[in-house]
Amino acid sequence: MASKRSRLDRYLCKQLQLPQKQVRHLLLEGRVSVNGLLAKSMDLQIDEFSLILLDGKVMQQNVPRYLMLHKPVGVVCATQDQQHTTVIDLLGEKATADLHIVGRLDLNTSGLVLLTNDGRWSRRIMSPEHKVDKCYRVTLQNPLDDAYVKAFATGFYFGFEDITTLPAKLEILTSHSALVTLQEGRYHQIKRMFGRFRNPVVGLHRLSVGDLRLDTGLQVGESRALTPEEVALFMPAFSHHDR
Ligand code: URA
Repeated sequence: MASKRSRLDRYLCKQLQLPQKQVRHLLLEGRVSVNGLLAKSMDLQIDEFSLILLDGKVMQQNVPRYLMLHKPVGVVCATQDQQHTTVIDLLGEKATADLHIVGRLDLNTSGLVLLTNDGRWSRRIMSPEHKVDKCYRVTLQNPLDDAYVKAFATGFYFGFEDITTLPAKLEILTSHSALVTLQEGRYHQIKRMFGRFRNPVVGLHRLSVGDLRLDTGLQVGESRALTPEEVALFMPAFSHHDR
């Protein structure tokens, strides 16, 4: 599979183990097509979802997939684990080897987990420059007060990584619960932020990623494919033939 955008000639050289000169001949003889069109130029851009045929036979045919899962507490965000059920196990027949997890949740966090085989889409969500909001409902052991709101908005210095967290939004819901919105995902970030107040997190649930909310119709452990509109939330002019 072409893992990201690349040139057609480079892909063919690698897959067919042929020198560039022979690949050029294949193209000039009209033996290769990409997404249903004859491909004659060496520098045509392809990606992992381009349909590539040689002499009418499929060389590459991958369909992009996008799923949301309602992760239960106690299930690990990993593809394989000796000890715990994984999010991939929960997908059942929907699981394919090419899926990856878009932003992991801790073992004891529940809520929205996204999975895809489209690396460009997941980078749009995860890369810090896109500043995608992730919203969590947090339940605390001890009561909250307004000092938390200020501290979350200011940021915390994490010595281990030598970074200061980006401003985060904290909205107090009840004496022991709040909504927290982050634009990044440092290791155990929310637990560590409340840890500064010596206030243990006793429940953590991800409600949304950007404008994509966890489908309230999904029972804990269930998953479904995203709609094209949901996919397009992170890739505005989404069309996989002009990627
Ligand atoms: N912050 C945490 O501490 N854990 C998560 O799973 C997500 C955010």
